[in-house]
Amino acid sequence: MMKEKQAGETPERRGRLTPVLALATLISAFGSSFQYGYNVAVVNSPAVHMKAFYNATYLERYDRPMEETFLTLLWSLSVSMYPFGGFFGSLMVAPLVNKLGRKGTLLFNNIFSIVPAVMMGVSEISKSYEVIIVARFIVGICAGLSSNVVPMYLGEISPKNLRGAIGIVPQLFITIGILSAQVLGIRNILGNSTGWTLMLGLTAIPAVIELLLLPFFPESPRYLLIQRGDEKNARKGLQRLRGWEDVDEELSEMRLEDQSERAEGRLSVLALLSKRSLRWQLISIVVMNMGQQLSGVNAIYYYADSIYATAGVKSNDIQYVTVGTGTVNVFMTIAAVFIVEATGRRPLLLSGFGICCGACVLLTVALHFQDSVTWMPYISISCVFIYVIGHAIGPSPIPYVVTTEMFRQSARPAAFMVAGSVHWLSNFTVGLVFPFLEKGLGSFSFIIFSFICLVTLVYIWVVVPETKNQTFLEISQMFAKRNGVEIKLGDGELPLTKAERPRGEEEKVTAF
Ligand SMILES: *[C@@H]1O[C@H](CO)[C@@H](O)[C@H](O)[C@H]1NC(C)=O
Repeated sequence: MMKEKQAGETPERRGRLTPVLALATLISAFGSSFQYGYNVAVVNSPAVHMKAFYNATYLERYDRPMEETFLTLLWSLSVSMYPFGGFFGSLMVAPLVNKLGRKGTLLFNNIFSIVPAVMMGVSEISKSYEVIIVARFIVGICAGLSSNVVPMYLGEISPKNLRGAIGIVPQLFITIGILSAQVLGIRNILGNSTGWTLMLGLTAIPAVIELLLLPFFPESPRYLLIQRGDEKNARKGLQRLRGWEDVDEELSEMRLEDQSERAEGRLSVLALLSKRSLRWQLISIVVMNMGQQLSGVNAIYYYADSIYATAGVKSNDIQYVTVGTGTVNVFMTIAAVFIVEATGRRPLLLSGFGICCGACVLLTVALHFQDSVTWMPYISISCVFIYVIGHAIGPSPIPYVVTTEMFRQSARPAAFMVAGSVHWLSNFTVGLVFPFLEKGLGSFSFIIFSFICLVTLVYIWVVVPETKNQTFLEISQMFAKRNGVEIKLGDGELPLTKAERPRGEEEKVTAF
């Protein structure tokens, strides 16, 4: 309500991208978000060499080679402990950001990167694959924290008019992190039997850079003012970030915003789960987040090389195809931001899941006939590219946007907690199960992904309304019948304001 009034008054002074703001954005995105993406893709290329190391270590310890099933199990654990750690990391967000601050949490979080980087770096010398598995869990905690805290920090230090643009930066760095791991994984660079430990350990470099540089940048002024009551430092930080002296207006705006949030109260996760008027909205974000992950996008990043090998791509070409998908992903993430705002959410979700579903079906057919037709591997590669594009325009970014739009301020933290848990647990499931799926079903493993895409598509078709440019009240009314509740105008819980949705938040785009 407040925001609307202000927009109607004198034109606001527009915030600038000052050097302090730009550098704080780049350093935190490189130090935290980049690492998140890097560790998603880092285990893909060296997989063969790491498995050989697991096997050799076992042979040396027990004097017999490792059984195939056990090796598959250990390998899928090494991959999936990362999203499992991510789940725990995302549960740690709330207590840490309130205790240590936003910048403080990002700095503290580097422990969860440097320690496992050292562990992974020395794993070969210490002859232990257990070290790698534990390290993947810890670096997963780092990712779970980063994925929430960087957007929070950047959202709080940027001026309103830049919030949307700056909100994209972390997501962009995640995809750049994925691409970097794919490039370093090229066989002549680090994806070989001697380079892989260094490759895993390199994740410490962004962490060290962040640890050295970020302390010189301001903590979130909003955190200092509201949570710490430290007006002096909040003012000082804000002056540096904005590049002008007079920040009184923005400080009082922060106070007002805080008061109105307080007046509204906060819904706990339990309260959200039992709230009838939000039931189908909640089911919808759970389905969309599960669909996003169980559609297999991370199977492609974790296990790309083995997928291409199955598809009959020559082993030397695989690495370049992998880098190609990473590049497409970076560009589609940039493009998605513009597309999301131009069209609605529903068409993008439906077409995105549709494209992924079709690509998986076609991939299955191509894999099935690859031995009889020489050009089939090209079809398979095209399918993977089409899949990556389809995922980047809809299933990756939109569930996040819709979660912001379906819940108002008071329920949003709880909704994001639920969405985040579903996200990481589904990601974990795919990482753990896919190698077994691939072994058991061979070329038919992608049929499962296409089925999941189809089910999600049908659900969205039937249940999820268009949320673009809708107020919270309008969205609740669309859900009211399904929820079995009646929405009365002026109901205390449902304010009519359009200012509900903070600008900027709706433009954030996640990479997967
Ligand atoms: C492990 O190594 C041994 C000897 O080098 C080899 O015969 C065996 O096939 C390997 N096991 C697996 C599961 O790769």
